[in-house]
Amino acid sequence: MMKADRERTQMDSVRQEAAGLLERLGVPGAAFTKGDLEVRSPITGEVIGCLPVTEAAAASQQIEESSRAFRSWRKVPPPRRGELIRLFAEELRAHKEALGRLVTLETGKILTEGAGEVQEMIDICTYAAGLSRQLYGLTIASERPDHRMMETWHPLGVVGVISAFNFPVAVWSWNAALAFVCGNTVVWKPSEKTPLCALAVRSIFERAVARFGDGPRGLLTLLIGGRQAGEFLAGDPRVPAVSATGSTAMGRSVAPRLAARFARAILELGGNNAGIVCPTADLDLTLRAIAFGAMGTAGQRCTSLRRLIVHEDVYDPLLTRLKAVYQSARVGDPRHSETLVGPLIGAAAFENMQSALAEACASGGRVTGGQRVHPESHPEGAELHPEAYYVRPAIVEMPAQTDLVKRETFAPILYVMKYADFEEALRLHNSVPQGLSSSIFTLNLQEAERFLAADGSDCGIVNVNLGPSGAEIGGAFGGEKETGGGREAGSDAWKNYMRRATSTVNYGTTLPLSQGVRFDVP
Ligand code: UN1
Repeated sequence: MMKADRERTQMDSVRQEAAGLLERLGVPGAAFTKGDLEVRSPITGEVIGCLPVTEAAAASQQIEESSRAFRSWRKVPPPRRGELIRLFAEELRAHKEALGRLVTLETGKILTEGAGEVQEMIDICTYAAGLSRQLYGLTIASERPDHRMMETWHPLGVVGVISAFNFPVAVWSWNAALAFVCGNTVVWKPSEKTPLCALAVRSIFERAVARFGDGPRGLLTLLIGGRQAGEFLAGDPRVPAVSATGSTAMGRSVAPRLAARFARAILELGGNNAGIVCPTADLDLTLRAIAFGAMGTAGQRCTSLRRLIVHEDVYDPLLTRLKAVYQSARVGDPRHSETLVGPLIGAAAFENMQSALAEACASGGRVTGGQRVHPESHPEGAELHPEAYYVRPAIVEMPAQTDLVKRETFAPILYVMKYADFEEALRLHNSVPQGLSSSIFTLNLQEAERFLAADGSDCGIVNVNLGPSGAEIGGAFGGEKETGGGREAGSDAWKNYMRRATSTVNYGTTLPLSQGVRFDVP
């Protein structure tokens, strides 16, 4: 076969596979075969879909429809709303394999991670269905005789969700499953890099709505497009809350728009997650955790491990073993069962990675790996498609925590630094602008507890003897500082999607005033 033919066969296979999956998931071909927005699969770099961008007038109409749907949805009893989400979970279970594979085709993450994302959706739906029978408020003791105080949680309105390419379905579902059981409607602006997954999820959701029977039209609508679509959503006064996941730069554009109109912002922005490796660390376990944390999803999770702060006594043995692990990890087509590291999302990610590595070298960093490679699964001798970016994950031994290390580079780069004193390790750990996730590897109780204490890690997620990524949905997810402060998923994050009413009822016949105030009219 000629080289060009071979490439075409490969390219066709991803495009055809995506089309086949979309068809199985109920998305008509017309929805992704014409339009200005080109979607590329990072696996081969080929265009796998073209979608029409939602223009401002259409977006406005959708938000209007969403507001209308909200006015009836908020009156549906919460456990009945939970029934919709239970049905949605059933549909997701039935389509887990197809949707997970589509996630792999559109993002480049390996198959188990694609399927894991759908599992994360199922998990949050299960949680949200149960939650729909709770949504509890407090009763509060009143200082006034024959008075009762209570708080009630009410639906909020249209919730905007802006999601990122790296978790194109799971992060949306954390927000949407809660928003729906809380009585809200959802307008979703998926990443312009992964709109096909959004089309598929909408189709699965619509099946659940059809089975549910009497849900209003417009519970979920999609805004397809880039930055402008997100800004439109953030600026619209009919949207009282927006949850946005992405870079800190994106947050800086969205947050002021929300603040200007006093809308609620749930922000999940950049992370610069570290692991401290102490002298007593179980090195076998630590190595596995570092490998998944730093190389998993090709370093493109907001929770990816980006900094390793290693005690000098274990530095050399750990680094020797880590380099061997890095060298042996298979980089290739994410559909192949032995691949651990798939491609980067695209050209910009590759260029950012290369310029970060060049900057690291210039400031005394020692780089192992990081170069563009031929994917192991690619046919022998076939040239790499110019738009597919496979890299060997990089380990960069840094003499200090420079400005470069303090920046989030969304790529598989692990900066490694040495420490001698635990206080110094903690100081290094916390002296970055981001505050999402963190981890410590130690068998020393004092170090572990100190890391969890008020003067320990300053992050929203703090782990002991596991890496910073791979959180479960039962806990609240999010972080501090430039990560944006939002919390999504479990614990009491649902309260972000509701408004609280504090009510006092006087069941007596007099009107005693609080704080001892007297106001006796004649
Ligand atoms: C993200 O990268 O935006 O904790 C979310 C994790 C996943 C979610 C990551 N459950 O790594």
